[in-house]
Amino acid sequence: MSILLTGGAGYIGSHTAVELITAGFEVIIVDDFSNSSPEVLNRLKTITGQNIPFYEGTILDKTFLNNIFYENDIEAVIHFAAFKAVGESVEQPLKYYKNNITGTITLLEVMNAHKVKNIVFSSSATVYGINNISPLTEELPTSATNPYGYTKVMMEQILIDVAKADPEWSVTLLRYFNPIGAHESGLIGEAPNGVPNNLVPYITQVAVGKLKELSIFGDDYNTLDGTGVRDYIHIVDLAKGHVLALKQNLGAQGSDIFNLGTGKGYSVLELVKAFEAENHVAIPYVIKPRRAGDIATCYADASKANKKLGWKAQKTLQDMMRDSWRWQSQNPNGYQ
Ligand code: NAD
Ligand code: WQD
Repeated sequence: MSILLTGGAGYIGSHTAVELITAGFEVIIVDDFSNSSPEVLNRLKTITGQNIPFYEGTILDKTFLNNIFYENDIEAVIHFAAFKAVGESVEQPLKYYKNNITGTITLLEVMNAHKVKNIVFSSSATVYGINNISPLTEELPTSATNPYGYTKVMMEQILIDVAKADPEWSVTLLRYFNPIGAHESGLIGEAPNGVPNNLVPYITQVAVGKLKELSIFGDDYNTLDGTGVRDYIHIVDLAKGHVLALKQNLGAQGSDIFNLGTGKGYSVLELVKAFEAENHVAIPYVIKPRRAGDIATCYADASKANKKLGWKAQKTLQDMMRDSWRWQSQNPNGYQ
């Protein structure tokens, strides 16, 4: 029996593949490399000592997906495959609705046809919108401010409805906060295309000399130092959360939702200082106006995952800063 990872060559999927294999699961990856590189598979082989079965193609292609389910004995799916750039989703909404929503519906139809009814889904803290107050708990109302966020809100609803209509389904929605860092080996990590949108890849690219300086988007928020506060979580902690969520999912029915965060927020300036102190590299920065759509503070109440999954983030901010830098300094051009 195998676990199928859609988007398993991506940042979160590749780290989860490592932790699943370490925990004794057999893994199959499907990815179209729209936001990743085939080199990831070589790196995964070096880390795990295994040739992970791989299918190259899009989950929008039903015939292709059907074949994967015919050829393998699949027990459950962890569904990472999606587009995730907020700004691009505002410019090209149809690209996002098609890939994320139609991709998910196609996957669910194929799973249904093959009677594979266990799914763990990559959701996001973005579904808490801009009005809820941190710490964020799972039962708060969801909303969105951009097409990417709407795709997550809609996919959550679709999955909840599928589980309601057919009690054989087991659906786990994982709401990730801000995943950063990389595997300790420095062999896999986050490799964004072009100029990074997210804070930590931007910092590491300044550190490695690819970018001149960090722009800090606003220092007038109502936070300890005026800069935005987020719940940064080490990617390996996040990946381990998937293993525990999958185990729980395999013995459950219906749907359930878990925040995967540390429960603690750090400001942009705290992060910059922690990166400099841990890695002895200076990060020049300038203060710029606030970025549209940003909120002051966002962090999880992570107690439900602790109680029901037995999961808790273990790694420190220093671990996150050190591992992010090891990955970037060993791979200045990502997987290229
Ligand atoms: P990523 O882009 O690194 O990984 C996604 C992978 O899916 C990529 O390898 C891409 O090539 C693949 N893919 C996309 N569309 C596909 C399709 N139609 N068919 C096959 N493969 C396809 O992103 P990530 O950071 O690993 O994110 C994984 C999931 O977690 C996404 O659903 C994302 O929305 C969600 N998420 C990410 C974050 C974050 O900050 N990284 C936060 C919250 C939620
Ligand atoms: C973090 C903080 C910025 C870049 C995004 C998505 C969210 C989720 C995770 C997928 C904020 C500040 C950033 C920079 C800065 N992804 N910042 N200079 O916005 O919390 O979340 O990724 O689901 O949906 O919106 O993460 O890393 O972009 O920003 O000052 O160059 O860093 O203003 O306070 P965010 P981020």
